Amino acid sequence: MHKDILKVVLIGDGGVGKTSLRNQYIHKRFTNAYKATIGADFITKEVETDDGKKVTIQIWDTAGQERFQSLGVAYYRGADACVLVYDVNNFLSFQHLERWREDFLKQSSLPAEEAKNFPIIIIGNKIDIDDRVVSRRQARAWAEVHSSERMQIPCFETSAKNGDHVEKAFAQIAKMVKVPQ
Ligand code: GTP
Ligand code: MG
Repeated sequence: MHKDILKVVLIGDGGVGKTSLRNQYIHKRFTNAYKATIGADFITKEVETDDGKKVTIQIWDTAGQERFQSLGVAYYRGADACVLVYDVNNFLSFQHLERWREDFLKQSSLPAEEAKNFPIIIIGNKIDIDDRVVSRRQARAWAEVHSSERMQIPCFETSAKNGDHVEKAFAQIAKMVKVPQ
């Protein structure tokens, strides 16, 4: 199926840094102020894939705080990739990846076979803070458990504050999704 725009959704607990990651990736900006996202919105960006094709990705930033998550289904539907974000300094946000993943797969109403192989990446954010409670090994183990034969879940660790590995994590998304012919 030909698609011009690839839809990518950022999900995860409130405050883990989804909005900050997107701001860093798109605008190379960071702010310390926390303004919880209400609902969701998207920004599009043209990216080049490994084989030189241009694709437009539509990056959806969603609300992590429960009271602002009213329209989940609409935001998830038609997604081509899902980015699960947690905070390496917040164990609960890592434990919740399970719930976010299940919720995403359920609400996006994918057929079972597609759900199994759906492109997912996980990002552990805020590595600039020296208070880590989630190790790389734990993240890799989680990814391993939820990977399938055809879809390995890549793990990244980032800082939306200083930009470390942000570009690399987003570039991986363009590599994973089905690129239009
Ligand atoms: P919701 O919109 O409520 O779902 O939260 P969010 O996931 O979009 O988090 P947001 O990007 O708003 O960041 C929450 C807070 O964490 C803000 O105060 C940010 O400045 C801060 N923050 C985000 N990323 C980082 C990071 O990599 N390092 C540090 N030190 N702070 C960060
Ligand atoms: Mg936000």
